[in-house]
Amino acid sequence: MDLKEAKELARKRLGDKRYHHTLNVEKMAVKLAERYGADCDQAALAALLHDTAKEMPTADQLALLRAHPDLAGNTENRPTPIWHGVCAAILAKTEWGVTDEAVLSAVACHTAGKPGMTLLDKILFLADMTSEERDFDGVEELRQLEMEDIDKAMYKALDDSMTFVKKGNKPLDSMSAAAWEDFRKLLAARG
Ligand SMILES: [Fe+2]
Ligand SMILES: [Fe+2]
Repeated sequence: MDLKEAKELARKRLGDKRYHHTLNVEKMAVKLAERYGADCDQAALAALLHDTAKEMPTADQLALLRAHPDLAGNTENRPTPIWHGVCAAILAKTEWGVTDEAVLSAVACHTAGKPGMTLLDKILFLADMTSEERDFDGVEELRQLEMEDIDKAMYKALDDSMTFVKKGNKPLDSMSAAAWEDFRKLLAARG
């Protein structure tokens, strides 16, 4: 699947607001890829695909996860807001001909992160949080930090979202907590 096809697919599967978000994520992902010497086409493809399962009904997402246990792992036991990334990766691999495992990985972990994230995983995760239309408290600081030090930005992003989840008494995803711990250790080792 090339970038033009991915853009058409996103347009077809998403409402106006989320499609607009997707284009902004693509822009930010390419900017980060340029900054860190990653492949811009991979970053753009991952960005265009990342939310393509977000408007699927939850029941359909669950059915898709159950139809592909090898790709879904234990996703169904994780918080439902995380499912859409894994579902998009499953559809991309099984129906849309996306074979690039690096892109599939970034799409699958874009909401919660995971331990051992690759540069492309980090780029998509942060691009999704700092795309142009995002306006939460602290987003400017995160935009600055992600251009300076992508690992520090990942740590801050995960730390903030864990605080947010805990405050709202929402279930904390263990993979996300493991990703947080991963960056905490990495930064501690760097001193
Ligand atoms: Fe998403
Ligand atoms: Fe998104």
